[in-house]
Amino acid sequence: MARGRKLYEGKAKILFAGSEPGTIIQYFKDDATAFNNEKKGTITGKGVLNNRISEHLMQLLMEVGIPTHFIKRINMREQLVREVEIIPIEIIVRNVAAGSMAKRLGIPEGTLLPRSIVEYCYKSDELGDPLVAEEHITAFGWASPQDIDDITAMSLRVNDFLSGLFTGIGIKLVDFKLEFGRVYDEHGEMRIVLADEISPDNCRLWDSVTAEKMDKDRFRRDLGSVEEAYQEVARRLGILPEAELKEVDAPAPE
Ligand code: TMP
Repeated sequence: MARGRKLYEGKAKILFAGSEPGTIIQYFKDDATAFNNEKKGTITGKGVLNNRISEHLMQLLMEVGIPTHFIKRINMREQLVREVEIIPIEIIVRNVAAGSMAKRLGIPEGTLLPRSIVEYCYKSDELGDPLVAEEHITAFGWASPQDIDDITAMSLRVNDFLSGLFTGIGIKLVDFKLEFGRVYDEHGEMRIVLADEISPDNCRLWDSVTAEKMDKDRFRRDLGSVEEAYQEVARRLGILPEAELKEVDAPAPE
């Protein structure tokens, strides 16, 4: 598939124009960053695995009625998605205390939360994605109250679905981050769809029995065996054989 011009390079992905109008090609890199770019590294094969894992999860979510930007996977490192207008809010859903919330509220990591908690962060690398309230989102016009209701309801449905899916393969879905975007139909009607990616880069996944971390915290916290953890998630999802056709080094995306 012909790739158009480079539109944007993020920390883990590069976006290119797709050949059809209104489409984008997401190229998944092996680059990893943490703590707002302070820590940088490479996780060999991560791009291939995240491309495949995100494809798999987005497809399953679409099957249960969650609209997403996903169109199709093109090759090992690229997928075709709909062009969306990204809503500048990161939605974090938490089932178990961990990471920034555990630290902020002094709750021991691993504590089961009384119910799932949804948090909103303003998407800004400069500011380090600060936690914001609905009040900020509506007052500054990042999203309307209706948009927030829709996004929150979809995020909780994603949580219910993915929690069940991961439980079935011996993994606890501790928390995750989602991004949403706006698409417009031919009549100018706006619809919100799930965008970005869902992968061990933006989920916390713990082995149900041992509580071993199987996500990007292995990189953030220097726990080692990062590649193996991502591979194990793909293996348990039943999608490793294809991803395993190891295309180890990331070719230049030119
Ligand atoms: P946190 O506990 O560090 O706030 O992270 C919550 C969840 O969000 C965790 O699953 C990792 C994910 N996340 C991202 O996807 N991108 C980010 O920049 C951060 C800080 C977290």
